[in-house]
Amino acid sequence: MGKKILVATGGGDCPGLNAVIRGIVKRASQEPGWEVWGCIESFNGLLKDQIDIRRLTDNDVAGIHVMGGTIIKTTNRGGPFHFPVRQADGSWVMEDRSDLMKKRFDELGFDAIINIGGDGSQRISLGLAQKGFNVVGVPKTIDNDLSSTDFTFGFQTAVEIATEAFDKLVTTASSHSRIFIMEVMGRDAGWIALNTAIAGGAEVCIIPEIPYDPRIIAEKIATRYHGDYGFCNIVIAEGAKALDGKVTGVAPTAAGDRHIKLGGVGEKLKAELEALGIEHDIRVTVLGHLQRGGTPIAYDRVLATEFGVRAVELIKEEKYGNMVVYNHPKISYVSLEKALEEPNFVKPPTSDLVRTARGVGISFGDNPVVR
Ligand code: F6P
Repeated sequence: MGKKILVATGGGDCPGLNAVIRGIVKRASQEPGWEVWGCIESFNGLLKDQIDIRRLTDNDVAGIHVMGGTIIKTTNRGGPFHFPVRQADGSWVMEDRSDLMKKRFDELGFDAIINIGGDGSQRISLGLAQKGFNVVGVPKTIDNDLSSTDFTFGFQTAVEIATEAFDKLVTTASSHSRIFIMEVMGRDAGWIALNTAIAGGAEVCIIPEIPYDPRIIAEKIATRYHGDYGFCNIVIAEGAKALDGKVTGVAPTAAGDRHIKLGGVGEKLKAELEALGIEHDIRVTVLGHLQRGGTPIAYDRVLATEFGVRAVELIKEEKYGNMVVYNHPKISYVSLEKALEEPNFVKPPTSDLVRTARGVGISFGDNPVVR
């Protein structure tokens, strides 16, 4: 019997989203009578007053695996259980529109949902599964902070972009005897910063999981200069915290957005180092959304395609309430509950990557007890 699948992409965009969509559509088209529809701007396509869903055929997805972004749009605000609705006085009220979504979903004859997104989106997947929807999740995040999968697609592309930028800063740092601080993404997890620091050969790597002491960074910088000459390259994750445990950013302004907009910790560190008497020229580069845009590298295209194909196979096997995962060497799945049990953060005492970084002399701005 044919199946009608609704696909949504939620949360921040990420290189590889289109490759997942293509994998889903191409695999589903091999099943007689199966249809795939894109829900535009995450589930808003079924939640807004005007329904916005689009049929996706093989023709629609031809060649999109090399494109960044998502052809069905995304949002990281709201969702079926807290949909922002503007009131007459201009204020916003969060409305539970999940019943409306279920009604429309059933009336339109859909059988299953594939929800591609990070932890916030997969929490929505779980809520939808508990409400009786047939849901399969596909993990997405450049931060790689979901623990049940070895990697999420988009992460390796972000590391590649950050490393390429870092390599460029190294040559200018050494030519001008400067200190460069490169701020990368990583809200709670330091994977992008840590991998970039090792790949690029940074002297200092600051991640959210290891609170930093600027005095220790200043000491490291001192070892890098002989008189006027020397240089130092620092990678810092946007979610990094000093010993006071505070992140740097601004409160969200958009309705339905519950996340602090992180940014500025690189400038904060620069000011802290200057206050400690560092006189060498310090420059800050913030990579920001450059890390999420553009074409996915081959690794992410392959992983994303595998996730898309497997998600359709799970629907064929009626294994709902699960999220596709990669556990080397297999593409497999876990329950949504299990997928959300704990995040994937760098665990400094046991992390091989942290040990490797310390092994090549990278400072985390801390006083390491465990080596
Ligand atoms: O979760 C992925 C991520 O890129 C984080 O690293 C970052 O903090 C966040 O999204 C930024 O989101 P936005 O584009 O909505 O500001």
